[in-house]
Amino acid sequence: MEQTSLADFSVRLARFPRLGLAHLPTPLEPLERLTSYLGGPRLWVKREDLTGVGFGGNKLRKLDYVLHEAVTSGADTLVSGGVVQSNSQRQVAAAAAKLGLECHLAVYHGRVEPPSPAYGHSGNALLNRLYCAKLHDVPWTGDRNAAIKSLADELADDGRKPFVVPYGVSNPLGAVGYSSTAAELARQCAKLDFSPAAIVHCSGSAATQAGLVVGTAELLSSTRVVGIDIDAEPERVRDDVVTYAAAAADMLEADFSEEHVEVIAGHAGPAYGVPHEATLEAIALAGRLEAMELDPVYLGKGMAGLLALVETGHWGKGDDVIFIHTGGAPTLFAYRDTLPF
Ligand SMILES: Cc1ncc(COP(=O)(O)O)c(C=O)c1O
Repeated sequence: MEQTSLADFSVRLARFPRLGLAHLPTPLEPLERLTSYLGGPRLWVKREDLTGVGFGGNKLRKLDYVLHEAVTSGADTLVSGGVVQSNSQRQVAAAAAKLGLECHLAVYHGRVEPPSPAYGHSGNALLNRLYCAKLHDVPWTGDRNAAIKSLADELADDGRKPFVVPYGVSNPLGAVGYSSTAAELARQCAKLDFSPAAIVHCSGSAATQAGLVVGTAELLSSTRVVGIDIDAEPERVRDDVVTYAAAAADMLEADFSEEHVEVIAGHAGPAYGVPHEATLEAIALAGRLEAMELDPVYLGKGMAGLLALVETGHWGKGDDVIFIHTGGAPTLFAYRDTLPF
């Protein structure tokens, strides 16, 4: 029965062409030492940080689908943006280099107070330059896509053929693309003979969670998708997940119910991009027990949320819970001075 729905879902997903930039499927691995340290539930990690190009990460899976449109539309330039240490724009810059397209990035200043001198030139900021992206400094206004769009307009006026990649690669097609993670997990869990109680991950610009919600409702119907808000804007995140999930479900002829959207608040620390005590403890624990690199903006907060849910007995000791490692390790270097090790 499950295999039938997996085959059927895969056919519907295959109607959306992808470039094949990302190394897929990504591994699903047990977190044995962390599980035994916590005394259960059984924890697993889905290694979306191993998608390959440009140090990998969850955006590459969305870009595989979104950039297929860019290539077929005859675009010669990718235009995107994000904060100085955005993982998303680093993956756009890497994909552009791989595809031989010019890349222009609106780099937002003011959303995050630089936590250390390395912030402006290490980590993702260094990699953007390595991939030869052209960086345009703009002020953060709270509108994630306005500066990206006006940059694209300017480039079009100069005679280029720009293709806009939205902030976080979050749009309905990005969510369709990310539903492929649920299909991979359904296959991997069936092979390992378990049915996960939950999939836990960081949620921000929202298409990652939207894709997971749509794919999981079809293929792993007893599994909850739990998004940990890392933007300190849980209502906005939830609204955006609902919007993208509804649109992606339409495109995939899948069912969608708002009841499947769970965004957990309280683990984002004082603000986006500012790690708090629990973030730093989670980063240290994952490094010590699992040699797993979590970053101070996303994964450290996501793991802090997961640990808090485990501590409050959210799951039984015998449950299986999957944490999605969505990438982001380059940011560790940019936050060097805030880390206690
Ligand atoms: C490392 C990492 N994890 C998780 C996310 C959240 O994914 P989404 O923006 O699709 O909600 C991001 C987005 O920027 C990210 O860079």
